[in-house]
Amino acid sequence: MMGTQRLRITVVGSLNVDHTWRVPHIPGPGETLMSSHMWTCFGGKGANQAVAAARAGGCVAMIGCVGIDDFGTRYIEALKAERIDTTGVVRSEMPTGSAFIAVDDEGENSIIVNPGANHAITVADIDKHAELIRRADALLLQLECPLPVVRRAAAIAREMGVKVILNPSPLSEAFLTDRFEVDVLIVNEGEAAKLMPDGDFKRANCRQLILTRGAASTILMTADQVEAFPPPKITPLDTVGAGDTFAGVFAVSGDIAFANAAGALATLKAGAQPSIPMRNEIEAFQSRCR
Ligand code: RIB
Repeated sequence: MMGTQRLRITVVGSLNVDHTWRVPHIPGPGETLMSSHMWTCFGGKGANQAVAAARAGGCVAMIGCVGIDDFGTRYIEALKAERIDTTGVVRSEMPTGSAFIAVDDEGENSIIVNPGANHAITVADIDKHAELIRRADALLLQLECPLPVVRRAAAIAREMGVKVILNPSPLSEAFLTDRFEVDVLIVNEGEAAKLMPDGDFKRANCRQLILTRGAASTILMTADQVEAFPPPKITPLDTVGAGDTFAGVFAVSGDIAFANAAGALATLKAGAQPSIPMRNEIEAFQSRCR
């Protein structure tokens, strides 16, 4: 599936510390719930996708921003341990981003993000580290960093013919009113409905659209083709980071079935980054599912 050359993936995105509480159901307004247990681990859509791409065999560089706090220092060390190039991770006096996550008994989640240092990254930071984008095979983006930063990174990539993959999550009004063209869009059903309210592919402003649908088939859409890829059947424990795992593994492999297998595996363990599988684990899982 992949030659001897490792694909170079640059990720511009968020780095969060995830504080997660296991609860019987996602709490409603005004409700107080008791949690059976809680844990803290590294997360953030950008860094999750970077780790997924690295564990799947990519040569990965990360551009983002963490605080000058202890979490920021430990986060950079953790990325280095994944062999991710962190020269593009800048520091800010804002605290490292954090996420507050509830995971229910079905493995579904609800997430509140406090962006902190993720919103301190600037267009000037992107320009300073533009070489990391220019020399990549693909640039992987999400929307947890400021939109002008994301847009600038995409523009640098397009100037050089570097493939741009955007997972527009969390989808914002600012992006909907001020979209830019990308090669691949990776969206869930809620995002697809907002991006293409009438189901018209041309509105998506991309060459390929990949629609992830949890336990249902992932759909690949292009101007002249629609194809379905059923994911492996599993019982999820924790879905946090499954979509990020799909995006990171797809960026490296270009293989939707392989990314589906990786995303499914990521739901079998707790936590965003602790659950992201290694390449050999994905391969073994795929052959067991055949
Ligand atoms: O996609 C999951 C991620 O969303 C979590 O790791 C959390 O940090 C938020 O960014």
